Amino acid sequence: MKPESIQKYRPFPAVELPDRTWPDRTITQAPIWASVDLRDGNQALPVPMSVEEKLRLFDELVRIGFKEIEVGFPSAADTEFNFLRALVEQDRIPADVTIQVLVQAREQLIRRTFESLQGVKKAIVHLYNSTSPLQRRVTFGDASKEKIRDIAIEGAKLIKELVPTLPGTEITLQYSPESFSDTELDYAVEVCNAVSAVWEPDKDRKIILNLPATVEWSTPNVHADQIEWFCRHVDNREHSIISLHTHNDRGTGIAATELGLLAGADRVEGTLFGNGERTGNLDLVIVALNMNSHGIDTGLDFSDLSSTRQIYEEVTRLTVPERQPYAGELVFTAFSGSHQDAIKKGFDRRSKDVDEFGTDFPWGVPYLTIDPQDIGRSYEAIIRINSQSGKGGVAYILDREHGFDLPKTMHPQVGKFVYDRADKEGRELSNEEIGDIFSEQFVNIDSPLSLTSFELDHTTMSRGEVICHATVEIDGETVAGTGKGNGPINSFVHFLEEAGHKDFNVTDYRSQALRGGSDADSAAYVQIQHAPSGKLLWGCGIDPSIEMAGLKALICAWNLLRRDEA
Ligand code: KIV
Ligand code: ZN
Repeated sequence: MKPESIQKYRPFPAVELPDRTWPDRTITQAPIWASVDLRDGNQALPVPMSVEEKLRLFDELVRIGFKEIEVGFPSAADTEFNFLRALVEQDRIPADVTIQVLVQAREQLIRRTFESLQGVKKAIVHLYNSTSPLQRRVTFGDASKEKIRDIAIEGAKLIKELVPTLPGTEITLQYSPESFSDTELDYAVEVCNAVSAVWEPDKDRKIILNLPATVEWSTPNVHADQIEWFCRHVDNREHSIISLHTHNDRGTGIAATELGLLAGADRVEGTLFGNGERTGNLDLVIVALNMNSHGIDTGLDFSDLSSTRQIYEEVTRLTVPERQPYAGELVFTAFSGSHQDAIKKGFDRRSKDVDEFGTDFPWGVPYLTIDPQDIGRSYEAIIRINSQSGKGGVAYILDREHGFDLPKTMHPQVGKFVYDRADKEGRELSNEEIGDIFSEQFVNIDSPLSLTSFELDHTTMSRGEVICHATVEIDGETVAGTGKGNGPINSFVHFLEEAGHKDFNVTDYRSQALRGGSDADSAAYVQIQHAPSGKLLWGCGIDPSIEMAGLKALICAWNLLRRDEA
């Protein structure tokens, strides 16, 4: 911003709490979770969900394990009312799930809300009114503190009066001083105490006091101070469930919730993937998986996060960003070479540790805070190749996707070629393209030298030596002859020597049965060193016969050397 713009803003006041205790605490258990997807989330959608879509999301929230689900604002619109009726009439609410309904502190709305609850077994009636000085001044036309407190009290009284009209419904009462995050703390406590005094909670019927960061105005430590201050000063703390409801205007809604839990809160409201007004509500997926990643069981099942995300995207018509923690498409993907190498080593080490110590062995793969498989992500997306990638990543893809177990010293040669290609094309290469590049550039290369015929004669030689009869074409010229050695490769090298084409030494040789390709195929890798320059080059050969694969690998390396010189 320009300085003249900044002048109109003010620092957010700190909370006077020198003996705050939350910074020394750690989160050791999960809070009570409440989903507000169908209310706060839905009201923020460009195209709100239809009843059918809400039912689909409701079922998914139940499957995930939410036991408290805010299903709407039944007095606000017919669709909201009808949705709740559909849930009741279709007997869709499991016995252990409590549905929550939101209502403003206004008589007609409260009465209509109670009508919507007919036949519900367990419900939370959630009353709110806005309390901050800004709201009192602007929205309610300079309303006094007393007036705003009295609106809450009147609403609370009417609700108390209506509770007996639903004898078959177990009702829990919840109050939110909306805009708590910028309400004077002593005044927020005053209003909550007044509501609590009306509802008279006890150990079997606790009041839920929900303290919304309706707008996130401050840093998360200030939010934590507000929560700790409130918990210390509110009446009847032991019969109150302190609930958090953060929004994300400064991008720190998750941190604010986590610190709010340290500060003493018992319950958390939020939505899947953080859908909600403006920058969204708290993302429950992230907070829950953050806890899982520290070994805390949350009671929520995000083990198939991609299907949860799919349902969410279909019903909300929103998309989860690619970098969204846990759920985003790219969040387990490494493009950089050094990260890829470390991840590959991490997985190799992990499988050894698991073999030795079992699956409880503490997770530890560089760059991955959790095992992607635990939330239903495959390892496929982890290593992807662009121009930033390294040799290890390319080798990893060739191994995992195409069954080539490249010798380690071959990785730089192949890796460089592949990521130079990615750089040239200015884009990411698919796993398939990487396999094609490898096959085209490093396997069975047979020009300028190609093998026309090759036969081994084991009979005439002694002490394991063989003699080969070979015919090759080199730059269109046919060369025939023999060579002897202790195996096919060695005898062929001598054949080339006799023919005047040996300016190299064989420095390494590996072979493998090819996985993934034809069962009958073998792959061989031969490294040669160019005598004049000292340059080392690998070639790969594939053939049903392991001997021929070796020979093809040698010829391939020879041809690559020629190409390199050209
Ligand atoms: O953000 C908010 O303050 C709310 C309240 C209605 C709880 O959604
Ligand atoms: Zn909200």
